[in-house]
Amino acid sequence: MQRKLSVVEGMALAQDVARNWEQIQNFQAREGDILLDTYPKSGTTWMQEIIDLIMHNGDEQICRRAPIHQRIPFIELLHLMQPGIEEVNLMPSPRVLKSHLPVHLVPPSFWEHNCKVIYVARNPRDTAISYYHFDQMLQFHPETGSWEDYLERFMKGDVGWGSWYDHVKGFWEQKEKRNILYVFFEDLKKTPAQEIVKVARFLGKDLHEETVSKIVRLTSFQNMRQNPMANYSSFPKEILDQSMAKFMRKGKVGDWKTKFTVLQNEQFEEDYGRQMAGCSLKFPDPK
Ligand code: A3P
Repeated sequence: MQRKLSVVEGMALAQDVARNWEQIQNFQAREGDILLDTYPKSGTTWMQEIIDLIMHNGDEQICRRAPIHQRIPFIELLHLMQPGIEEVNLMPSPRVLKSHLPVHLVPPSFWEHNCKVIYVARNPRDTAISYYHFDQMLQFHPETGSWEDYLERFMKGDVGWGSWYDHVKGFWEQKEKRNILYVFFEDLKKTPAQEIVKVARFLGKDLHEETVSKIVRLTSFQNMRQNPMANYSSFPKEILDQSMAKFMRKGKVGDWKTKFTVLQNEQFEEDYGRQMAGCSLKFPDPK
């Protein structure tokens, strides 16, 4: 792996991902496909497990058929791991696919087929910390350096998949015009049943109350952490080195308070105001 970023269409992207850009953009979505899109570290895996359980009416056994990255393939990494593009092309409909691409770079075929898109956003401070720990494990992103340096890079969008600010704003601004359900990590944490019902309805599923409670239980942080099919323990080691730390880290809201200094928080706040000016997006727990 290269451990380097390049710039694609104005967005920082790992060189190892960027070299396959043409195939990524030409990904052929089909009618009925569902796209889960997020900025990295916003609760993607959590929502992947929720969607898979919804699609299978809460059937725990079926949802343990394979690791999460195989059940819901990651469009940008199809050239680096299994399942590859050939397997994904053979998957039966409706497929659920994952991407971290910003709204304007989502492969056009998803829009052409009016596919349903679920977007999860997480408050930027927790996202930045989660990303800082994750980038220490991710073999195709640059070394993180100190937290201070990393936070600066995050604010500038000089991290994989570019600017968090542009990402959350982009989907927010398109959500009425396209088939997008916008969900917050903080709401999932606070009222999981309510959010699961929202996602299920968007996907056209009417779940029994017991099924919703079961999905809440199966997708709790503790349960997912212990589930080898949901906890990333079988994710390829060449890409994600979990020898020093684990993918399922804390799963909390407000963990930023343990890491940000008072000064960092003030600078972040000021910069946040500048970068989010004019956008009506408000986080349930903005800090
Ligand atoms: P932390 O690093 O703050 O613990 P992604 O899947 O987008 O990479 O996001 C990973 C983040 O979501 C990690 O955050 C991870 O612990 C958290 N996460 C994963 N599953 C979760 C769950 N069931 N409940 C709460 N947080 C979860």
